[in-house]
Amino acid sequence: RQDLHIDLGSDQTSLHNPWAGGYYPVGLSFEESNELMAKDPEKFKEKVQESLRRQTEAINRHTKKGTYFFDYGNAFLLEASRAGAKIFKDEQGNFVTAEKAKDKENFAYPSYVQDIMGPMCFDYGFGPFRWVCASGKQEDLDKTDAIATEVLQRLKENSPEEIQQQMQDNIKWIQGARENKLVVGSQARILYADALGRIEIAKAFNDAIAKGKIGTVVLGRDHHDVSGTDSPYRETSNIYDGSRFTADMAIQNVIGDSFRGATWVSIHNGGGVGWGEVINGGFGMVLEGNKESERRLRSMLYWDVNNGIARRSWARNDGAVFAIKRAMETEPQLKVTLPNMVDESLLKTL
Ligand SMILES: NC(=O)c1ccc[n+]([C@@H]2O[C@H](COP(=O)([O-])OP(=O)(O)OC[C@H]3O[C@@H](n4cnc5c(N)ncnc54)[C@H](O)[C@@H]3O)[C@@H](O)[C@H]2O)c1
Repeated sequence: RQDLHIDLGSDQTSLHNPWAGGYYPVGLSFEESNELMAKDPEKFKEKVQESLRRQTEAINRHTKKGTYFFDYGNAFLLEASRAGAKIFKDEQGNFVTAEKAKDKENFAYPSYVQDIMGPMCFDYGFGPFRWVCASGKQEDLDKTDAIATEVLQRLKENSPEEIQQQMQDNIKWIQGARENKLVVGSQARILYADALGRIEIAKAFNDAIAKGKIGTVVLGRDHHDVSGTDSPYRETSNIYDGSRFTADMAIQNVIGDSFRGATWVSIHNGGGVGWGEVINGGFGMVLEGNKESERRLRSMLYWDVNNGIARRSWARNDGAVFAIKRAMETEPQLKVTLPNMVDESLLKTL
């Protein structure tokens, strides 16, 4: 109403859980919502959907004036579409409901994975590598931070141009991690790294454990990663060959992880975007500071990242084609079929 210009917009409500308190509809107080949710869930659902349609109208008005809007991975676009909001585009580029959409599989707005995380990180194998210092000691975490920094600085020197920026960002992150109190849970850290980075960092931890410099370290990662999750509206949303609506990668990934040396694996469902919308696979690997651990970490981490890069490369994502070729150069035993690119202009003339 006040004709404000907004540069950047997103929605960060808990829409993975819309009917049980993840999204409070406009027009009802907190107490009224809680009461309605318990006494008349159908009516509450109507109120949420009405509110989502209203919110979408407001977003569409702003984006027409130039706001860049993106889905934050909280299922906003999906729930708005289910609510009958005008979250699609028709042939002429007008905002319309699903029935009138030119393409029902693609919303009018991208998810942050389609525009940012996918092409910049996941396609190259960069994802949230995690470790926990089982000793629970802050000094161990400090030592692992220093080891990881050293490894990334060394790898950056010989990294190709395509990933220099990511390497630099991750070095900056880990150097500032302690000061910024980025402890997740107990003495644990998350650091974005690609396959080579994860393997080299893990190997350096294993060596430090062998020398008695640090205690046992447990490796893992977040589900929001290259390979472990099939989630068509989030982690795999930038896979455009139609296969993002399948749920095979997470399963394949944990099976590979399990016999390549993970200490435990897990398959779960719902992570971040809601039950029934996603399959997540995860692992834990205990480093014991011996040769056996080194063999396991090399074999498993290599698979855990490159499995997803292969899938992304088959979908013809540029960064992933680059990354899988590089992985095959560093490991001649790896053979992944490369996509044959079609000259789009040929198709247009048909
Ligand atoms: N992209 C990612 O990597 C990522 C990471 C973490 C979480 N998520 C997703 O983001 C969502 C939010 O996560 P969170 O941990 O911040 O949840 P949260 O429950 O802590 O925060 C949600 C906030 O939304 C507010 N809210 C609810 N209805 C509202 C409305 N109609 N208008 C304005 N505000 C409203 C709530 O008061 C609450 O403060 C979840 O769906 C989660 O799965 C995505």
